[in-house]
Amino acid sequence: MILSKLINKAPKTFNTTRKPIALITGASSGIGQALSYHFASKGYDIVTVARDNQRLQEIKSILLAKYNSQVYVCAVDLTKSNSIQIIKDFLIHENLEINALVNNAGFGIHGSFEETDLNSEIDMIQVQINTTLALTKLVLPMMQTKKSGYILNVGSVYSFAPVPFQSVYGACKSFLLSFSNSLAFENKKYGIKVTALCPGITQTEFRMRSNVGRHKISNKKSIKNSKPTGMSAEQVAEQGYNALMKGDIIAIPGLTNRIFVQIATHLPTSLLSSSLALVNNFRGVNSKHT
Ligand SMILES: NC(=O)c1ccc[n+]([C@@H]2O[C@H](COP(=O)([O-])OP(=O)(O)OC[C@H]3O[C@@H](n4cnc5c(N)ncnc54)[C@H](OP(=O)(O)O)[C@@H]3O)[C@@H](O)[C@H]2O)c1
Repeated sequence: MILSKLINKAPKTFNTTRKPIALITGASSGIGQALSYHFASKGYDIVTVARDNQRLQEIKSILLAKYNSQVYVCAVDLTKSNSIQIIKDFLIHENLEINALVNNAGFGIHGSFEETDLNSEIDMIQVQINTTLALTKLVLPMMQTKKSGYILNVGSVYSFAPVPFQSVYGACKSFLLSFSNSLAFENKKYGIKVTALCPGITQTEFRMRSNVGRHKISNKKSIKNSKPTGMSAEQVAEQGYNALMKGDIIAIPGLTNRIFVQIATHLPTSLLSSSLALVNNFRGVNSKHT
């Protein structure tokens, strides 16, 4: 209902004389921040979406100085039901046409399902799934009219398997992969490229935030001081960007991650959950940082 209202009110006219514009959710940190830098380095202006206005303003100054990219800061909490309306109003107010959409914002929740907080899980679905659907519906008609556009949906290697102790997170990522692949097929005839970027463990704030819980972060210093593991956010962003430009339907950065996905997609279903739980226990993914 809310979505259909938004689509009917989609802006009809845009300024088409400026640089192409990428709207990136979760641009304040990690993979989203790295993607903002990467798109800017390739000649895009950026609409950055996340809650942390101060970080977004810092990124704006850096991208202007480094790449002469205009950054439009839209500080919004995507768990809020009016967040899409705020973004839509912002785009209309700034007269912005979106050429590339990156659905990246997200967070994880660890724990047995009976122990995890339902409201946090509903927030996670709102940020990862509802926002992705709503933003895609918002930009797609214009991309189809122009017969051009790019949509990058950030999934995970967990898109390919059930994930015990991150059950809702894993289900969100599977949803995103399935949605992304179908969207890619439907929109091929319009020249719109849609890629599911499926990283493995990446050096961002993600794991620390997931382990302490999104609402409990009070000391950002301790987040910054945590020891990084996995690929760098810049490597993931570069590979995601390249795959999107090529029109790859799925991008899995890193050989280890590609091997993981190959194994996961060939294991019998009966062994998938137990194997993944074992691997994650071995890697310390299921242990808490608190
Ligand atoms: N890091 C990994 O190991 C890994 C692996 C596979 C997939 N991924 C996926 O990669 C994506 C990016 O994560 P990351 O690793 O870069 O983690 P990150 O450093 O924690 O960044 C998460 C981003 O999402 C934004 N965000 C979270 N909740 C939000 C909300 N309620 N409203 C608006 N923005 C919100 C955060 O911004 P604010 O806090 O400023 O709001 C931040 O910019 C996620 O979808 C994640 O699932 C990560």
